[in-house]
Amino acid sequence: SRPLSIAVAGLGTVGAGVLRLLSENAEIVAARAGRPVVVKAVSARDRLRDRGVPVSTLRWYDDPVALAADPATDVVVELIGGSEGPARALVEAALAAGKPVVTANKALLAVHGAAIAERAEAQGVPLAFEAAVAGGIPAIKALREGLAANRIRRVAGILNGTCNYILTVMREQKREFGEVLAEAQKLGYAEADPSFDIDGVDAAHKLAILAALAFGRPVDFAAVHVEGIREVSALDIALAEELGYRIKLLGLAARTASGISARVHPCMVPVAAPIARVDGVFNAVVAEGDHVGRVMLEGRGAGAGPTASAVVADLIDLARGRVTPVWGAAPGALASVPSVPMDRH
Ligand code: HSE
Repeated sequence: SRPLSIAVAGLGTVGAGVLRLLSENAEIVAARAGRPVVVKAVSARDRLRDRGVPVSTLRWYDDPVALAADPATDVVVELIGGSEGPARALVEAALAAGKPVVTANKALLAVHGAAIAERAEAQGVPLAFEAAVAGGIPAIKALREGLAANRIRRVAGILNGTCNYILTVMREQKREFGEVLAEAQKLGYAEADPSFDIDGVDAAHKLAILAALAFGRPVDFAAVHVEGIREVSALDIALAEELGYRIKLLGLAARTASGISARVHPCMVPVAAPIARVDGVFNAVVAEGDHVGRVMLEGRGAGAGPTASAVVADLIDLARGRVTPVWGAAPGALASVPSVPMDRH
């Protein structure tokens, strides 16, 4: 049957990974999608850079927003990043044009997710974002579908691969934060602005999205308590180890009597806890439901392959016509949930 034709905005690590996955796994993807999934148009700043995948036959746009109007594509994949600027303009233009959007943009959804979801639902246009949280871990699907029968009490996790890598190397090699940071950046997992990683902002973006899904209401991102790992020393890590703990940067969100509490900060975790053993670039997402109890998913939270895996899973859903309301609730249901103040810390 007719292929699903897609337009990809942003050909960095993740964009190139999506092109590679779609080409290497074309048969598997077509079988699961019920039809071929084909990239037709792209936009990126540098046309000549070698990305290890052929791009010369694709229609090229210099202005990413123009992708929304490409007449021969069914879906826009936004992999530019950033809560404002071209990424936001492209997503808004695509939704206004009635074109489904797949995005990996956690900053955009954490800051403007409620408004964007409202627009998508009002227009009846799918908006999918599995890749925005914890890279290759199917955390969005797990919360929205697998755990749909539960009242979720708590979501938590290791949500930034760069920080988890830095803390792991500091512990294993007894080295200081400043030395290890540069190595982590070279691995290509860090954000364009690495302070988003090390100051906890990136983890907070992902936590805000998880909390909105888990608790069925928009989260006020500005009220999330955020602390990063700059102040953690090799000595802190060694002393924690002596006491039987590991230091992890965790995101924690819970329902409380006064609202939703959401915070990101370094935590002492008992060595015997499963999350203490999640090391390197791996992420973990923990959810606690009233009937299922505790569930933990672990996997690579950053990088080309894991993030592309999540983007393409969303494309397969769209190709099949499997469309879920943006936050998992029935359209409009979020608006009717009385807003509850965030706990401030
Ligand atoms: N900079 C992020 C991380 C990439 O290190 O986890 C994935 O969102």
